[in-house]
Amino acid sequence: MKLVLIGAPAAGKGTQARKLIAKYGLAYISTGDMLREEVAKGSELGLKVKDIMSSGSLVSDELIIAIVKERIKADDCKNGFILDGFPRTVVQAEKLDELIGSIDKAIYINCPDEALLERITARETCPKCGASYNKISVPSKVPGICDVCGEHLTQRKDDTVEAGKARLATFHEQSEPLVAYYKKQGNLFEVDGMSGVDNVTNAIFAELGD
Ligand code: AP5
Ligand code: MG
Repeated sequence: MKLVLIGAPAAGKGTQARKLIAKYGLAYISTGDMLREEVAKGSELGLKVKDIMSSGSLVSDELIIAIVKERIKADDCKNGFILDGFPRTVVQAEKLDELIGSIDKAIYINCPDEALLERITARETCPKCGASYNKISVPSKVPGICDVCGEHLTQRKDDTVEAGKARLATFHEQSEPLVAYYKKQGNLFEVDGMSGVDNVTNAIFAELGD
Protein backbone atom coordinates (compact mmCIF):
# COMPACT_ATOMS: atom_id res chain seq x y z
CA MET A 1 0.00 0.00 0.00
CA LYS A 2 1.29 3.46 -0.93
CA LEU A 3 -0.22 6.23 1.15
CA VAL A 4 0.16 9.99 1.24
CA LEU A 5 -0.77 12.10 4.27
CA ILE A 6 -1.87 15.65 3.54
CA GLY A 7 -2.62 18.21 6.22
CA ALA A 8 -1.68 21.66 7.42
CA PRO A 9 1.03 22.02 10.08
CA ALA A 10 0.01 20.16 13.28
CA ALA A 11 -3.03 18.55 11.64
CA GLY A 12 -1.80 15.22 13.03
CA LYS A 13 0.09 13.66 10.08
CA GLY A 14 2.95 12.34 12.22
CA THR A 15 0.59 11.16 14.98
CA GLN A 16 -1.55 9.15 12.53
CA ALA A 17 1.40 7.89 10.48
CA ARG A 18 2.81 6.11 13.54
CA LYS A 19 -0.47 4.26 14.05
CA LEU A 20 -0.74 3.34 10.37
CA ILE A 21 2.79 1.91 10.12
CA ALA A 22 2.14 -0.19 13.23
CA LYS A 23 -1.07 -1.65 11.76
CA TYR A 24 -0.09 -2.12 8.13
CA GLY A 25 3.69 -2.71 8.41
CA LEU A 26 4.56 0.10 6.04
CA ALA A 27 7.78 2.11 5.81
CA TYR A 28 7.49 5.62 7.23
CA ILE A 29 8.85 8.51 5.21
CA SER A 30 8.58 11.94 6.81
CA THR A 31 10.43 14.53 4.75
CA GLY A 32 10.23 16.96 7.69
CA ASP A 33 11.90 14.42 10.04
CA MET A 34 14.55 13.63 7.42
CA LEU A 35 15.39 17.31 6.99
CA ARG A 36 15.44 17.92 10.77
CA GLU A 37 17.93 15.04 11.13
CA GLU A 38 20.21 16.75 8.62
CA VAL A 39 19.90 20.05 10.48
CA ALA A 40 20.75 18.30 13.78
CA LYS A 41 23.81 16.65 12.18
CA GLY A 42 24.94 20.00 10.77
CA SER A 43 25.42 18.40 7.33
CA GLU A 44 25.78 20.44 4.14
CA LEU A 45 22.11 19.76 3.36
CA GLY A 46 21.12 20.65 6.94
CA LEU A 47 22.90 24.01 6.74
CA LYS A 48 21.17 24.72 3.43
CA VAL A 49 17.63 24.08 4.73
CA LYS A 50 17.87 25.25 8.36
CA ASP A 51 16.76 28.86 7.85
CA ILE A 52 14.15 27.96 5.23
CA MET A 53 12.51 25.53 7.67
CA SER A 54 12.53 27.84 10.67
CA SER A 55 10.95 30.61 8.58
CA GLY A 56 8.05 28.33 7.59
CA SER A 57 8.82 28.24 3.86
CA LEU A 58 9.30 25.15 1.72
CA VAL A 59 12.63 23.83 0.54
CA SER A 60 12.93 23.53 -3.24
CA ASP A 61 10.97 20.89 -5.17
CA GLU A 62 14.19 19.75 -6.84
CA LEU A 63 15.97 19.08 -3.56
CA ILE A 64 13.11 17.27 -1.84
CA ILE A 65 12.25 15.16 -4.92
CA ALA A 66 15.89 13.97 -5.08
CA ILE A 67 15.72 12.92 -1.40
CA VAL A 68 12.42 11.03 -1.79
CA LYS A 69 13.50 9.38 -5.04
CA GLU A 70 16.45 7.78 -3.20
CA ARG A 71 14.49 6.94 -0.04
CA ILE A 72 11.74 4.96 -1.80
CA LYS A 73 14.35 2.68 -3.37
CA ALA A 74 15.25 1.31 0.09
CA ASP A 75 14.35 -2.30 0.98
CA ASP A 76 11.88 -1.36 3.70
CA CYS A 77 9.69 0.35 1.06
CA LYS A 78 9.10 -2.87 -0.90
CA ASN A 79 5.89 -3.65 1.03
CA GLY A 80 4.61 -0.11 0.73
CA PHE A 81 5.09 3.17 2.53
CA ILE A 82 3.47 6.23 4.03
CA LEU A 83 4.64 9.62 2.87
CA ASP A 84 4.15 12.31 5.54
CA GLY A 85 4.70 15.84 4.27
CA PHE A 86 5.46 14.82 0.68
CA PRO A 87 4.18 15.76 -1.84
CA ARG A 88 3.66 19.33 -0.72
CA THR A 89 3.26 20.97 -4.11
CA VAL A 90 1.54 19.86 -7.30
CA VAL A 91 4.97 19.63 -8.98
CA GLN A 92 6.03 17.12 -6.28
CA ALA A 93 2.79 15.13 -6.73
CA GLU A 94 3.28 14.90 -10.49
CA LYS A 95 6.85 13.74 -9.97
CA LEU A 96 5.71 11.11 -7.45
CA ASP A 97 3.17 9.73 -9.95
CA GLU A 98 5.95 9.58 -12.51
CA LEU A 99 8.21 7.68 -10.10
CA ILE A 100 5.78 5.09 -8.68
CA GLY A 101 2.68 5.10 -10.87
CA SER A 102 -0.26 6.23 -8.81
CA ILE A 103 -0.62 6.10 -5.02
CA ASP A 104 -3.38 4.03 -3.35
CA LYS A 105 -4.82 6.74 -1.11
CA ALA A 106 -4.21 10.35 -0.15
CA ILE A 107 -5.50 10.94 3.36
CA TYR A 108 -6.35 14.58 3.99
CA ILE A 109 -6.58 15.48 7.69
CA ASN A 110 -8.64 18.65 7.70
CA CYS A 111 -8.47 21.16 10.61
CA PRO A 112 -9.20 24.89 10.98
CA ASP A 113 -6.19 27.23 11.29
CA GLU A 114 -7.14 28.61 14.75
CA ALA A 115 -6.94 25.17 16.34
CA LEU A 116 -3.68 24.43 14.57
CA LEU A 117 -1.86 27.50 15.86
CA GLU A 118 -2.79 26.44 19.39
CA ARG A 119 -1.55 22.90 18.73
CA ILE A 120 1.70 24.14 17.20
CA THR A 121 2.70 26.18 20.24
CA ALA A 122 1.68 23.43 22.71
CA ARG A 123 3.52 20.63 20.88
CA GLU A 124 6.46 18.78 22.42
CA THR A 125 8.55 16.43 20.32
CA CYS A 126 10.97 13.66 21.21
CA PRO A 127 14.33 14.42 19.56
CA LYS A 128 15.29 10.73 19.78
CA CYS A 129 12.29 8.72 18.51
CA GLY A 130 10.19 11.49 16.94
CA ALA A 131 7.07 10.89 19.06
CA SER A 132 4.82 13.93 19.25
CA TYR A 133 2.92 15.16 22.32
CA ASN A 134 0.79 18.15 23.15
CA LYS A 135 0.69 19.91 26.51
CA ILE A 136 -3.06 20.47 26.06
CA SER A 137 -4.51 17.59 24.04
CA VAL A 138 -1.99 14.74 24.14
CA PRO A 139 0.24 15.15 27.24
CA SER A 140 3.09 12.73 28.00
CA LYS A 141 2.56 10.63 31.15
CA VAL A 142 5.47 12.34 32.93
CA PRO A 143 5.66 16.04 31.94
CA GLY A 144 8.58 16.74 29.61
CA ILE A 145 9.57 13.05 29.21
CA CYS A 146 8.87 10.78 26.21
CA ASP A 147 6.52 7.87 27.02
CA VAL A 148 8.20 5.71 24.38
CA CYS A 149 11.92 6.12 25.03
CA GLY A 150 12.33 8.27 28.17
CA GLU A 151 14.15 11.12 26.39
CA HIS A 152 13.59 14.76 27.42
CA LEU A 153 11.04 16.40 25.11
CA THR A 154 11.90 19.54 23.16
CA GLN A 155 10.10 22.19 21.13
CA ARG A 156 10.68 22.41 17.40
CA LYS A 157 12.37 25.58 16.12
CA ASP A 158 9.42 26.25 13.78
CA ASP A 159 6.77 25.82 16.51
CA THR A 160 6.51 29.54 17.32
CA VAL A 161 3.44 31.73 16.66
CA GLU A 162 5.29 33.63 13.91
CA ALA A 163 6.66 30.58 12.08
CA GLY A 164 3.36 28.75 12.67
CA LYS A 165 1.40 31.49 10.88
CA ALA A 166 3.89 31.42 8.01
CA ARG A 167 3.62 27.60 7.74
CA LEU A 168 -0.18 27.79 7.64
CA ALA A 169 -0.03 30.42 4.87
CA THR A 170 2.45 28.27 2.94
CA PHE A 171 0.10 25.28 3.28
CA HIS A 172 -2.91 27.15 1.89
CA GLU A 173 -0.91 28.62 -0.97
CA GLN A 174 1.20 25.67 -2.06
CA SER A 175 -0.11 22.42 -0.57
CA GLU A 176 -3.91 22.77 -0.42
CA PRO A 177 -4.17 22.38 -4.24
CA LEU A 178 -3.13 18.75 -3.64
CA VAL A 179 -6.62 18.08 -2.28
CA ALA A 180 -8.14 18.85 -5.69
CA TYR A 181 -5.29 16.99 -7.42
CA TYR A 182 -6.01 13.71 -5.60
CA LYS A 183 -9.79 14.20 -5.67
CA LYS A 184 -9.55 14.32 -9.46
CA GLN A 185 -7.54 11.07 -9.40
CA GLY A 186 -10.28 9.51 -7.25
CA ASN A 187 -7.78 8.73 -4.46
CA LEU A 188 -8.75 11.27 -1.81
CA PHE A 189 -10.06 10.40 1.64
CA GLU A 190 -10.86 13.39 3.85
CA VAL A 191 -11.10 13.04 7.62
CA ASP A 192 -12.08 15.56 10.28
CA GLY A 193 -8.84 16.22 12.19
CA MET A 194 -10.70 17.81 15.10
CA SER A 195 -12.44 14.63 16.19
CA GLY A 196 -9.79 13.34 18.60
CA VAL A 197 -6.71 11.24 17.82
CA ASP A 198 -8.40 7.82 18.17
CA ASN A 199 -11.47 8.81 16.15
CA VAL A 200 -9.24 10.04 13.32
CA THR A 201 -7.29 6.76 13.42
CA ASN A 202 -10.47 4.66 13.39
CA ALA A 203 -11.90 6.59 10.44
CA ILE A 204 -8.70 5.97 8.46
CA PHE A 205 -8.60 2.28 9.42
CA ALA A 206 -12.25 1.93 8.33
CA GLU A 207 -11.42 3.48 4.95
CA LEU A 208 -8.32 1.34 4.36
CA GLY A 209 -9.77 -1.91 5.71
CA ASP A 210 -7.83 -4.83 7.22
P1 AP5 B 1 6.93 18.85 8.59
O1 AP5 B 1 7.79 18.26 9.60
O2 AP5 B 1 6.24 17.97 7.62
O3 AP5 B 1 5.93 19.84 9.32
P2 AP5 B 1 4.40 20.25 9.09
O4 AP5 B 1 3.80 19.88 7.80
O5 AP5 B 1 4.37 21.68 9.45
O6 AP5 B 1 3.65 19.32 10.03
P3 AP5 B 1 3.92 19.04 11.54
O7 AP5 B 1 4.98 17.99 11.68
O8 AP5 B 1 4.11 20.33 12.24
O9 AP5 B 1 2.50 18.49 12.00
P4 AP5 B 1 1.84 17.06 11.91
O10 AP5 B 1 0.72 17.15 10.94
O11 AP5 B 1 2.85 15.97 11.72
O12 AP5 B 1 1.20 16.98 13.35
P5 AP5 B 1 1.55 16.10 14.64
O13 AP5 B 1 1.11 14.69 14.44
O14 AP5 B 1 2.95 16.34 15.08
O15 AP5 B 1 7.80 19.90 7.71
C1 AP5 B 1 8.63 20.84 8.35
C2 AP5 B 1 9.30 21.73 7.31
O16 AP5 B 1 10.17 20.92 6.47
C3 AP5 B 1 8.38 22.45 6.31
O17 AP5 B 1 7.85 23.65 6.85
C4 AP5 B 1 9.34 22.69 5.14
O18 AP5 B 1 10.20 23.75 5.38
C5 AP5 B 1 10.17 21.41 5.12
N1 AP5 B 1 9.59 20.36 4.25
C6 AP5 B 1 9.15 19.13 4.65
N2 AP5 B 1 8.67 18.43 3.61
C7 AP5 B 1 8.79 19.23 2.51
C8 AP5 B 1 8.44 19.08 1.14
N3 AP5 B 1 7.85 17.96 0.67
N4 AP5 B 1 8.71 20.11 0.30
C9 AP5 B 1 9.30 21.24 0.73
N5 AP5 B 1 9.64 21.46 2.03
C10 AP5 B 1 9.40 20.45 2.92
O19 AP5 B 1 0.53 16.77 15.69
C11 AP5 B 1 0.67 18.12 16.03
C12 AP5 B 1 0.27 18.35 17.48
O20 AP5 B 1 -1.14 18.13 17.65
C13 AP5 B 1 0.95 17.39 18.45
O21 AP5 B 1 1.19 18.08 19.63
C14 AP5 B 1 -0.08 16.24 18.63
O22 AP5 B 1 0.08 15.61 19.85
C15 AP5 B 1 -1.41 17.02 18.51
N6 AP5 B 1 -2.49 16.26 17.87
C16 AP5 B 1 -2.40 15.42 16.80
N7 AP5 B 1 -3.61 14.95 16.45
C17 AP5 B 1 -4.52 15.54 17.29
C18 AP5 B 1 -5.94 15.45 17.41
N8 AP5 B 1 -6.69 14.70 16.58
N9 AP5 B 1 -6.53 16.19 18.40
C19 AP5 B 1 -5.78 16.97 19.25
N10 AP5 B 1 -4.43 17.09 19.19
C20 AP5 B 1 -3.80 16.37 18.21
MG1 MG C 1 4.94 15.97 11.47
